[in-house]
Amino acid sequence: MMKILAHRGSSGTHPENTMPAFEEAYRAGADGIELDVQMTKDGALVIVHDAKVDRTSNGTGWVKDFTLDEIKELDFGGWFSEEFSGLRIPTLEEVLDWISGTSLELNIELKNGAVRHAGLEDGVVRLVRQYRMEERVILSSFNHYSLVDVHRNYSDVETAILFMEGLYEPWHYARSIGANGLHCYLPVAVPEFLQGAQQNGMPVRPFTVNKAAHIRRFKDAGCAGIFTDFPERAVKIRDES
Ligand code: G3P
Ligand code: CA
Repeated sequence: MMKILAHRGSSGTHPENTMPAFEEAYRAGADGIELDVQMTKDGALVIVHDAKVDRTSNGTGWVKDFTLDEIKELDFGGWFSEEFSGLRIPTLEEVLDWISGTSLELNIELKNGAVRHAGLEDGVVRLVRQYRMEERVILSSFNHYSLVDVHRNYSDVETAILFMEGLYEPWHYARSIGANGLHCYLPVAVPEFLQGAQQNGMPVRPFTVNKAAHIRRFKDAGCAGIFTDFPERAVKIRDES
């Protein structure tokens, strides 16, 4: 069965990467959630997509330049709608504490891009183990050096490569760096690609899949999962006969 993975939580209906977005995905029947992790100046692991806080909070500046106390002062809900104003940024630990009491799977994206967070991989794996979530977690990243680091040091943790386009036979490449999944930009997932991945036993999970026609197409093609901003809609479409 194709897994429905809520992209930054139920981010089409709730402010992305916040506890209400994650809780809504659970209520809607999603199989798992995806979130983005970065590190503050004082080494706390926080859930936020952009390298800067500007788009999704009432603050300005780089995530890496805030302490945890400082970034917790910001409102991460008001930008989305008045109803959610006053929401605080979640830490990875807060999310793990909640999710470990559910049956949800968790895809943690290591946001090690323009800003490289030293020690991000170790910190994330330490917390995942502390909450005994190893069996339900996939770590992914556009930064494949991060994934190599995870695989070398923690070979029991599942990893998947994130990529936008242009990788030739990515199933071979992914395997060569110890990864076991292809998290690709939706337009990459054409029939030839999906067939190649399937023949080579490599699970595919495209992002971000919100349209009904795409959801049906990836289900029919046997994708392992999809990332969607609208998990309630995707579950309904996936489960229709
Ligand atoms: O993990 C899938 C997707 O989240 C990757 O892109 O930019 O939404 O983090 P982005
Ligand atoms: Ca992401």
